[in-house]
Amino acid sequence: MTVKEIFETMDYGPAPESASEALAWLVDMGDRFGCFIDGAFTKPGKTFESKNPATGNVLAHVTQATQSDIDAAVKAARKAQPAWAKDGHARARVLYAIARLLQKHSRLFAVLETLDNGKPIRESRDIDVPLAIRHFYHHAGYAQLMEAEQPDREAIGVCGQIVPWNFPLLMLSWKIAPALAAGNTVVLKPAEYTSLTALLFADICRQAGVPKGVVNIVTGDGDVGEMLVNAEVDKVAFTGSTAVGRRIREATAGTGKSLTLELGGKSPYIVFDDADIDSAIEGLVDAIWFNGGQVCCAGSRLLVQEGIAEAFYARLRERMDKLRIGDPLDKCIDVGAIVDLVQLDTITRLVDGNTEGETYRAAGAVPASGCFYPPTLITGLSSSARLMQEEIFGPVLVATTFRTPDEAVQLANNTRYGLAATLWSENVNLALGIAPRLTAGVVWVNGTNMFDAAAPFGGVRESGFGREGGWEGLSAYTRPKGSTTALKRVAAFEGDPAPTDPLDRTAKLYIGGKQARPDGGYSTAIHGPKGKLLGHVGAANRKDIRNAVEAMNAAAGWSKTTGHLRAQILYYLAENLFARGEEFAARIDAMCGKGGAKEVDLSIRRLFTYAAWADKYDGVAKGVPIRGMALALKEPVGKIGVLCPDEAPLLGLVSVMAPAIAMGNRVTLVASEPFPLAATDFYQLLETSDVPGGVVNIVTGSHEELAPTLADHLDVDAVWSFSSSDLSGGIEKRAAGNLKRTWVNHGKARDWTTAEGEGAVFLDAATEVKTVWVPYGE
Ligand code: NAI
Repeated sequence: MTVKEIFETMDYGPAPESASEALAWLVDMGDRFGCFIDGAFTKPGKTFESKNPATGNVLAHVTQATQSDIDAAVKAARKAQPAWAKDGHARARVLYAIARLLQKHSRLFAVLETLDNGKPIRESRDIDVPLAIRHFYHHAGYAQLMEAEQPDREAIGVCGQIVPWNFPLLMLSWKIAPALAAGNTVVLKPAEYTSLTALLFADICRQAGVPKGVVNIVTGDGDVGEMLVNAEVDKVAFTGSTAVGRRIREATAGTGKSLTLELGGKSPYIVFDDADIDSAIEGLVDAIWFNGGQVCCAGSRLLVQEGIAEAFYARLRERMDKLRIGDPLDKCIDVGAIVDLVQLDTITRLVDGNTEGETYRAAGAVPASGCFYPPTLITGLSSSARLMQEEIFGPVLVATTFRTPDEAVQLANNTRYGLAATLWSENVNLALGIAPRLTAGVVWVNGTNMFDAAAPFGGVRESGFGREGGWEGLSAYTRPKGSTTALKRVAAFEGDPAPTDPLDRTAKLYIGGKQARPDGGYSTAIHGPKGKLLGHVGAANRKDIRNAVEAMNAAAGWSKTTGHLRAQILYYLAENLFARGEEFAARIDAMCGKGGAKEVDLSIRRLFTYAAWADKYDGVAKGVPIRGMALALKEPVGKIGVLCPDEAPLLGLVSVMAPAIAMGNRVTLVASEPFPLAATDFYQLLETSDVPGGVVNIVTGSHEELAPTLADHLDVDAVWSFSSSDLSGGIEKRAAGNLKRTWVNHGKARDWTTAEGEGAVFLDAATEVKTVWVPYGE
């Protein structure tokens, strides 16, 4: 093209970035890669090709790791862990060295990432790599501060980490930096399409003085991922599809391995009629055409207010036509290649299978060869359309309209996911009024796809659990210090089955603020230590649990109450328990033989503790390096089913109920199985203490029978089990259905009478972090 022609068309000329350094590095490394284990590359084994999706050219051959590679990597990580965990400052130095070396080789990383993944060099150079560098800098700081700031917590041990192909280096950083900062060692598996920057990172680790065995990289496909999940690791951290996340939840169930899952999404992008339209359109370019839409939190579901919809779509189509699609190494390119033919096929199949609405494809030329897909907009879809519900993971935006803010919220939340949401409005009252109503782990106000190492990122619902970034993310790589004793089954006392009292004193269930007869009509006799019949309790069944869940649904308003109100109610509960303390103590003594007075006293103290926390467990504002701030706010988890501790019938119940309701959750408590009568007496306290009906529901019955019902229920958000029957495996496995949160005891006992029975871990489990990004400053 001549200069004259360029002036005539004002078209961008090509500005290709050279690939030569990156290709030279691959040649230097011998083109065939082994795994990186115990500080060295292993000999390549059976290999597969890693291709450039823009050209189809083979870049390198990567090893499909074997079981013995996994075993060797885990062994090396295990051996290295104690020394690595010892000195936070030493870890900080190493993380800092990694950050510096990433910075030094940033162009090499960017080019290699673009070659391997197909994303535009503009993105890898200006977003992926700088964010990865920032992550290591920031986490060097956590390593330095951890001992002083979190003296009660320690590293978990060896972490198995599995990352996807959409942000290969960035996701690696999100996984490795916090794990290492907290004193863990890691075995990481990159995605099979994009292993190369992880291998370059391994090379950097050698230069940065990372001790042998602290970072291990094993390459290969999903089978290798499965082997890693099943290996002797203490924690699994996964980012990828919801389907695989669910399988990992099932595979790790009952093993005691910690688990964090960062899964898919179908994130709403809401544009109100008073939005700055140009900005909202530019935002959409970032929301859905950044990385070709292969972004877990992509704003892939556009919701536009009806009055501006047609004009908005028209301008959007105009903007789409200006997007440049092609060679990712060209600095003028906006949309690069799709990672692999397999993904291209998935996108094509999903879009071609749609028969609803109107499909518009960007006018820009799409290269005839290579894995390219044009930016696409599909308008006029109904909310239940497949493409409105399913993650496409490509440059395809689906759209519909809404009339009122309420309808926008309803449409936005009409998804099984809950990763991110974006909203645009020039009205600060509207925007900040809507943000808390969106079911999502991250909300961006008048911006989109913003990330930072200090700002927690992660989802709710089927988008997974756990956060990455900030102190909140670090806590997913630590656990409370302290000794653990084995759980002991607490059996009920046996006695004379004949009733000594001719009146029926069967305690009922407590559902929706009312006493209810158990659906099945069966009851169990409760005896004291000497065999005396103390009374009967109802045997709850599935139907009773379903009723309790309905009651929790009806009490949704509790989650919107203020901490101040919840505090008052908890104090009031404590006051009423104090007033009837002797009666409760006598009841506990009759059931357990001793300990009543102490339990009552500790229960009152515990109620005070959570009354105190109810209006003090606040979020924080994160100073992120852009114009704005990220507010990491605490929200209730929602509806929690709890199997109460058996051994402390009143204190155990209070210890799990109080933090949950203090944080705004609604609970269904399955009372201590052998000693349920303190729980059934507790109804009266709830009734007299202004606890609204449905906020606390109490059922009695077999933990073993009721746990599966709670874990299966798709409308329960979390299940906790402190039962003396170890039900952990079954609960975790069944919880995979809707990926509900679980907190189970894994065969370990907790001393409810000490600090182990209260505090931050309970408050943490009772809350989700929602990160709201708002404009702030000049
Ligand atoms: P995937 O979830 O299968 O792959 C992610 C990672 O998990 C890769 O490293 C893979 O090797 C590994 N993996 C696969 N099966 C495994 C198993 N059974 N156990 C342990 N690890 C396993 O994602 P895939 O198939 O590459 O993409 C399919 C769809 O998943 C995409 O179309 C997209 O919808 C979604 N996805 C979502 C991502 C996110 O960030 N939320 C990232 C990648 C894909």
